[in-house]
Amino acid sequence: MSDLALFRRRLLKNPRQVSAIAPSSRTLARAMTLGLGPKSGPVVEFGPGTGRFTEAILARGVPPENLTLFELDEEFVGYLQQKFPGVTVHQQPAQDAARLVSPGVGTVISGLPLLSMPPEVREGIVGAAFQILAPRGHYVQFTYGPRPPLPPETIAALGLTVNKGHKVWANLPPATVYRFRRG
Ligand SMILES: C[S@@+](CC[C@H](N)C(=O)[O-])C[C@H]1O[C@@H](n2cnc3c(N)ncnc32)[C@H](O)[C@@H]1O
Repeated sequence: MSDLALFRRRLLKNPRQVSAIAPSSRTLARAMTLGLGPKSGPVVEFGPGTGRFTEAILARGVPPENLTLFELDEEFVGYLQQKFPGVTVHQQPAQDAARLVSPGVGTVISGLPLLSMPPEVREGIVGAAFQILAPRGHYVQFTYGPRPPLPPETIAALGLTVNKGHKVWANLPPATVYRFRRG
């Protein structure tokens, strides 16, 4: 089964959780993984789906043993385990990352539909990301909308610095990548 067919099937099964009409494009995946390389240290990905960002992270030279994924959907988890040997895949919510990953992570790449989540879930996810990130680590998140993918109060409460990337038009729908780190 193709990535698109699997994605669509899981979307129909659980539309609120998957919350996108198709996997992200390779162009968006390259923008999300900009700056990653063999020396990036541990990398964690939230909501990999069929693994479009996972492929790009590995293509940047991050060793599979340095990559940990958090995905809720059991079919995606089975697919990711087969497709990416050596990568750690947890069928656990991203909110639980701090229970399973030691602090000192260089980058968290998030493919989660953050803005469509209830505020307490969103805050749990971003809080977990900054619990495991190293002091200079980055949280990378895309959004389809015109505003940052985190509300101003969350950015202020966590004391984050925001870097807005260019718009990626080659994606359905077009998306913008934001990088957050502690200020
Ligand atoms: C919009 S899809 C993105 C998939 C992929 N990153 C991409 O860009 O093609 C969101 C993914 O996040 C997963 N997901 C949703 N909530 C989650 C959570 N709390 N923890 C981990 N994964 C979650 C969904 O099952 C789905 O695979």
